[in-house]
Amino acid sequence: MRGSFITFEGIDGSGKTTIINMLAKKLENVVVTAEPTDTWIGNSVKKAIEEGKDAITIALLFMADRNEHIKKIKEWLRQGKIVLCDRYLDSTYAYQKEALKKVMKNPSKWIEDVQKPFILKPDLTILFILPVEQAIKRIANRKKIIYEKKEFLEKVQENYIELAKKEKRFVIIGASREKEKVLNDCMEVISKFLSLHQDLK
Ligand code: TMP
Repeated sequence: MRGSFITFEGIDGSGKTTIINMLAKKLENVVVTAEPTDTWIGNSVKKAIEEGKDAITIALLFMADRNEHIKKIKEWLRQGKIVLCDRYLDSTYAYQKEALKKVMKNPSKWIEDVQKPFILKPDLTILFILPVEQAIKRIANRKKIIYEKKEFLEKVQENYIELAKKEKRFVIIGASREKEKVLNDCMEVISKFLSLHQDLK
């Protein structure tokens, strides 16, 4: 039986990574993965961001990283795993739409066109929403990257909400609450999804 592909999205400081790790302890047959990946291509994206390379270079690197990542995801799904992925294609739509808007007219269309030959859509996407000020406070001690500015993250969050309105695979979770409450909501959403998914297979 094919596995399930669940992605987690949200602005920096939304708490995705903590919740994914907690979920992984509660679920069976799980693989936890993330983008940018922990490979030389993923690391090259991080390096390009740190070095302030231009937005097109960074966007292409994110998508190249994804193309390789998808091969692994497909294999895990073939093995029947539940794949929990910390950031995926919606991160590119939400962040690069903003980063690319100065250099092209329609970044979303460009991103869609580049990824069309290889993309794999998630089965379920959990989107963490919280006030940007709160997210910024949470990441105050982290080494800053160019994307972690208030105005930028506000746009990114707006882009995420717009994406969520368009596709049924999205579920929005209020991430400003205590970890345990966010975790419980995520567990509920995933359990419901998995029971429905099993019935359809
Ligand atoms: P991380 O902090 O979740 O590891 O992600 C690193 C940064 O990369 C974060 O600010 C979001 C950004 N990002 C994009 O801009 N586009 C993408 O496609 C991905 C996967 C991440």
